[in-house]
Amino acid sequence: MPRLACITFLALASALFSLLQQVAAQGCNATSLCPSTAPCCSEYGFCGSGTYCLGGCEPLHSYKPTSCRPDPICVSGETSFTDLSRVQQNATAYNGNATAYDWVVNTGSLVADPNGQGARLILTQNNSGTKISSTRYIHYGSIDFVLETSKWAGVVTAAITMSDVKDEIDWEWPGATTDAVQTNFWYLGIANYSATQGASIGVSSDTSSNFHTYTFDWHEDYLNWMIDGNVVRTLFKTDTLSDDGSHYKYPSTPSRIQLSIWPAGTSASAQGTIDWAGGYINWSDEDYTTNGYFWNTIQSVKVSCEQAQNTTAGTTGWAYGGNDSTGVPIVTTTNASILLSAGETTITPLSTSLRLSVVLSLLGGVALLGGVALF
Ligand SMILES: *[C@@H]1O[C@H](CO)[C@@H](O)[C@H](O)[C@H]1NC(C)=O
Ligand SMILES: *[C@@H]1O[C@H](CO)[C@@H](O)[C@H](O)[C@H]1NC(C)=O
Repeated sequence: MPRLACITFLALASALFSLLQQVAAQGCNATSLCPSTAPCCSEYGFCGSGTYCLGGCEPLHSYKPTSCRPDPICVSGETSFTDLSRVQQNATAYNGNATAYDWVVNTGSLVADPNGQGARLILTQNNSGTKISSTRYIHYGSIDFVLETSKWAGVVTAAITMSDVKDEIDWEWPGATTDAVQTNFWYLGIANYSATQGASIGVSSDTSSNFHTYTFDWHEDYLNWMIDGNVVRTLFKTDTLSDDGSHYKYPSTPSRIQLSIWPAGTSASAQGTIDWAGGYINWSDEDYTTNGYFWNTIQSVKVSCEQAQNTTAGTTGWAYGGNDSTGVPIVTTTNASILLSAGETTITPLSTSLRLSVVLSLLGGVALLGGVALF
């Protein structure tokens, strides 16, 4: 190549590369761990560094379990969402300091409730909904959510716990149903649509226009779902024994607390999901056209940690050490830093095949040699 053309090409290719970094990252799963150059598997299953190594980082799909920062240890306390100073609204600016923030906005945004009762998580036609996560984890204890739900067909409100290995406990309010709530739980994200897993529970007054307190009272041996202080469902660990009798399919790993509003009733969803959420979203609904968004309202979240799980003064969090012989993740406390190091940037490299195919299609055949050399 002539020198000028070569320089132009390299500049173009490098600009393209930084653009592409934001478009698609390398995937990770149980059989395809992340490389050392992008060691952390995010909760969405993509390899990267920086913020990819914080909350939700999948330790068993990462380069090493310790590639992920530890899960910050539980601290009891209450967040009132009338004050958003403890909410980091720019997730890319978060460096893992769970003392500075109690919550991170993962996607979407919050607005103050016009009635001063808390904050609204909002759903627009363009934002794919809003999700916030606690910066700290809880490993048994209780969580009180005080909230009003959304009330529109196809729109779902959720208040859940979610661990890095996808143990999950749910409250979910699908669609226009405002007289009931669905309870559910998952062990390592394994789908099991048996009648014993999900359960709908009646609520005493309209969930979209009354604040109720929805509680997970989560212990090593049992889990209570409670509404306004009354136990409405109990799950005993002993009732979750696997078919081969080797382990319990019971949520038992440290978990973040997450709140969300999300669009289930769209053509992007499976028909079963659309039906579950009460049909398609009506974007011409007067509430939407008047406000510019659909919403739910979060008043407060109160966490009471079950202590002391082998914690000492220096304990920073929980870390994973692989699986035991029955496939159950091993979790221990650790003193390792929960912070990203200063200047640690978020890098999300493309997978090799995608890099090549995109370069080829965009720059034409001449890019092949330069592309291979450059990337
Ligand atoms: C979010 O934080 C990143 C990293 O610090 C910064 O570059 C970006 O401008 C911030 N975005 C907003 C909207 O403040
Ligand atoms: C973490 O945040 C707290 C509270 O804002 C602050 O006092 C502390 O210096 C921060 N730690 C680091 C290492 O940035």
